[in-house]
Amino acid sequence: MDIPEQLIHTFEEKFGADGDIRAYFAPGRVNLIGEHTDYNGGHVFPCALTIGTYAVIRRRDDKKLRFYSGNFSRLGVLEGSLDHLVYAEKAGWANYPIGMVWAFVEKGFPVETGFDLLICGNIPNASGLSSSSSLEVAVGVALRDLYGFGQMTMEEIALIGQYAENHFNRVNCGVMDQFSIAMGKKDHAIFLDCGDLSFSYVPIILKEEKLIVTCSNKKRGLGGSKYNERRAECEEALKMLQNKCDICALGDLTIEEFEAHKDEITSEVLKRRARHAVYENQRTIQAVNVLQNGDIDEFGRLMNESHISLRDDYEVTGRELDTLVETAWEQPGVIGSRMTGAGFGGCTVSIVRDDCVEDFIRNVGAAYLEQIGYAADFFPVSIGDGAGAL
Ligand code: GLA
Repeated sequence: MDIPEQLIHTFEEKFGADGDIRAYFAPGRVNLIGEHTDYNGGHVFPCALTIGTYAVIRRRDDKKLRFYSGNFSRLGVLEGSLDHLVYAEKAGWANYPIGMVWAFVEKGFPVETGFDLLICGNIPNASGLSSSSSLEVAVGVALRDLYGFGQMTMEEIALIGQYAENHFNRVNCGVMDQFSIAMGKKDHAIFLDCGDLSFSYVPIILKEEKLIVTCSNKKRGLGGSKYNERRAECEEALKMLQNKCDICALGDLTIEEFEAHKDEITSEVLKRRARHAVYENQRTIQAVNVLQNGDIDEFGRLMNESHISLRDDYEVTGRELDTLVETAWEQPGVIGSRMTGAGFGGCTVSIVRDDCVEDFIRNVGAAYLEQIGYAADFFPVSIGDGAGAL
């Protein structure tokens, strides 16, 4: 039995077997470079993974919403109602699908009857591979189909997901996660300008290397982290720069313009935050350029620089991610290694030569266990397609 069949079986057990039961999948994502640039109107370079979230769903005739997650089976079936679309701590993971319904309605796509929904994902929770955005986009695609909003584009679903995250779950995230999950393409990363959402697909052809995600197993929730604080710091720095520069976002600045005007930012901390946003954006543009010219080594070097900037200027790495990355840099065959996602825990992404992967996992794993006191998990990952029906 493949995964969807098994899940449909569980769905029938929990909610009954009659009616039109449908299944959807949305991937997780890993960002190769361009971190904390999306909400600064800069560039990102993420790709969708082959691991992700399955959603099995059936429309109801009444206003009830029923939820079951294979990842939180001890919570059993949770219930909600279309008449009560509000965030509630006790709703736990169900706040994400409820938030999507709320956002659909807010954006003028009425969801007039309820549904039964089963979710099951194989992205490690709170790993920084966007399990929550994956859930949002899976539900978004399902709602589009179920309620006849066929004209809605995948980009719109991504934006509705971001809206739900910002205004329902109160995490002020940018658009990168939902966009890459909705729009992903097998064996490609997405070079996205978050200023205007223009993008192109860039092939990621690793002939002699593997993409390795390492999970620090340090749990973090975006809401509880300093994510919103960093975003507010960037906004403050932007305001100060706007005294001299005609810009809408930090991503509008070249390095030369930033260096010429940086002293408008009167706080040293804010200056470092802005420096990261500006340099990381330019680094991302350069990284995509060198990759397209086939220079994977230079791409890796820029990944390393990205980590240093996130560590020293943006201060979102922490001991766990630094230990993983700095140990990775010492290993033979490592082309590049950096934290990925929001930071403060979660994962790193490394490009490692095929013949060195085994030693890499053994050595970095041992050093991490010794220095941090618990184990990290290593996943060779593949780049998959964006969300859709199964
Ligand atoms: C999280 C957010 C994204 C992005 C990254 C950092 O994943 O959801 O919007 O800001 O952090 O690059």
